[in-house]
Amino acid sequence: MSFDSNLNKDNLIENIPVDEKSYNSLIHLLRKKTGLNFEYYNKTFIEKRIKSRMIRVPCKTLNQYYDFISSNNEEVKKFIDGFTINYTFFFRDYDVFELFQDLFIQGLRVSRKDIKSNIRPESSKLVKFRTKSNAVKNFHRNRHLTEKPSRFYVDIFIFLNQLSYYKKMKGVKSTDNCINIWSCPCATGEEPYSLAMILDNLETQVPRFPKYRIVASDIAPEAIKKAKIGIYTDDSMKEISDYYENKYFSKQKTHFGHTNVIKENIKNKIEFVEEDVTKGHKMPYRYDIIFCRYLLIYFNRENRHKFLKIIENRLNENGILILGKTETLFDSWGSLQLVDSRNRIYLKSHSKLFQK
Ligand SMILES: C[S@@+](CC[C@H](N)C(=O)[O-])C[C@H]1O[C@@H](n2cnc3c(N)ncnc32)[C@H](O)[C@@H]1O
Repeated sequence: MSFDSNLNKDNLIENIPVDEKSYNSLIHLLRKKTGLNFEYYNKTFIEKRIKSRMIRVPCKTLNQYYDFISSNNEEVKKFIDGFTINYTFFFRDYDVFELFQDLFIQGLRVSRKDIKSNIRPESSKLVKFRTKSNAVKNFHRNRHLTEKPSRFYVDIFIFLNQLSYYKKMKGVKSTDNCINIWSCPCATGEEPYSLAMILDNLETQVPRFPKYRIVASDIAPEAIKKAKIGIYTDDSMKEISDYYENKYFSKQKTHFGHTNVIKENIKNKIEFVEEDVTKGHKMPYRYDIIFCRYLLIYFNRENRHKFLKIIENRLNENGILILGKTETLFDSWGSLQLVDSRNRIYLKSHSKLFQK
């Protein structure tokens, strides 16, 4: 019997005692072994990761786990895998992607009805992958989201104006006349590829579409490796519409069924980087749009602020930060001003106009 299946009631996470001294020495060891910067993460989150490994190994105390991981490199790898939880899928929370597309449509002054694109997954697909009642509920709940509040576009009008400048190639801010987008963290690549598909789809329909660059980074080497390969199981496809699936993927037969292979022209649009963003960002660019979804929730308060500073520095004036629905909501942070509370979208602006 494998250790991993050896779960029983006595080993429930809540029953594992945590004393400060053993916890600190374990963290010290884990930091040495994994290179991960634990001080940046929420303590409850780290504790949960450690305990969930402990009940699988199994170990009853932190000291036992210390001894176990000290001499077991396989366990170090498993710990990192569990720690980084690079769970993601294409068009995750698809209304954020609809909004991203809308920004370009509005900014480039094209008419929505002239654009062929369907980001919202078919309800049949949602039903297949979720419980039926949840899927239908979600589908109806999100129906209204196509009509975007006009206040949002008023708030964000400088950004939109800049997009139209880019179109005319006047280049108001970026060094290379190009819209820079950063997906951070990108996990196995589904988020940046979703952005690339949307932009490629628009590019083929909008004359004089601006140049753009998509950078995607993550701390997990395995995730970046997988992203670069660009082959996905059906799990990653659970919220992608038929429109995008048919246009940008081919199916590959395997012994276990089939996999979904992303088209080469989309793969070539992304610059993948492996890095710990709490230590800074390796690329030399400043960005117009930063997607930073499902990351800040893991960071502790103090270091969330340190990290936001890095993000703020890397955003161009009037650039936007998209945190997504799960992050804590704050009205402003330095020069970052909240412009959409549903999707936690912030505009970097020093203008008094945006100070609430
Ligand atoms: C749940 S995924 C989010 C992926 C994607 N943004 C999404 O919304 O689906 C969280 C990712 O954060 C990455 N991560 C955690 N700490 C990080 C750090 N310090 N630097 C860079 N990436 C980190 C993990 O490796 C993991 O792939």
